[in-house]
Amino acid sequence: MRIDILTLFPEMFESPLSCSILKRARDAGIVEIVLANIRDFAADNYRNVDDKPYGGGPGMVMMPGPVFDCIDHVRKLSPEKPRLILLTPQGRKFDQAKALELSRESRLILIAGKYEGFDERIRIGLDAEQISIGDYVLNGGELAAMVLIDAVVRLLPGALGDDDSAKDDSFSNGILEYPQYTRPETFRDMKVPDILLSGDHAKIAQWRRDQALERTKKWRPDLLEDDEQKT
Ligand code: ADE
Repeated sequence: MRIDILTLFPEMFESPLSCSILKRARDAGIVEIVLANIRDFAADNYRNVDDKPYGGGPGMVMMPGPVFDCIDHVRKLSPEKPRLILLTPQGRKFDQAKALELSRESRLILIAGKYEGFDERIRIGLDAEQISIGDYVLNGGELAAMVLIDAVVRLLPGALGDDDSAKDDSFSNGILEYPQYTRPETFRDMKVPDILLSGDHAKIAQWRRDQALERTKKWRPDLLEDDEQKT
């Protein structure tokens, strides 16, 4: 997969993209991530990318020109047809199903703009899919883009050491993940459930299913209601 990111703050991405699973996936060629600085496409010598809003009001609004020029440039960097995504709190809420859907694409272009204001023609003219990571306002789309990338890349074949790891994740089958334990067997008077030491794989699998369902009922009953609505 190739992911292009358009941003005014490419430096924000350096550390998250250079650690852990994202680093490994990039090093292994599973994902190629390319940053483009929208400011490089500013039309004036001052490298301005925003201006005062027409009609008055506080703050500055991102001008459409540099964003469109940046997209035109980035599109040409690879022959693959991209899926265009605009990170904004006005978008559809991101979830595991969307992460899985996006993980099947060969190329994504993510546009991380300032929240304060996008000239409306960016939204209209690009016809991009709008995605939000939750009902709260961030200063810009950068952290949202990182969340999306993290969730998508771990689903790419080969990104995790063991491809089964993602299958058991919370949400991947609509419910929360079962509880996990490792050594020591007893820690501060808390013991690992006997069943996990029994070696009976069928019973362990059943226990895990029961536990996953139980904790979903207790902590996220909305997930089960969503399920019932779907069926
Ligand atoms: N930009 C600002 N807030 C955002 C959010 N909640 N999701 C995606 N992009 C954003």
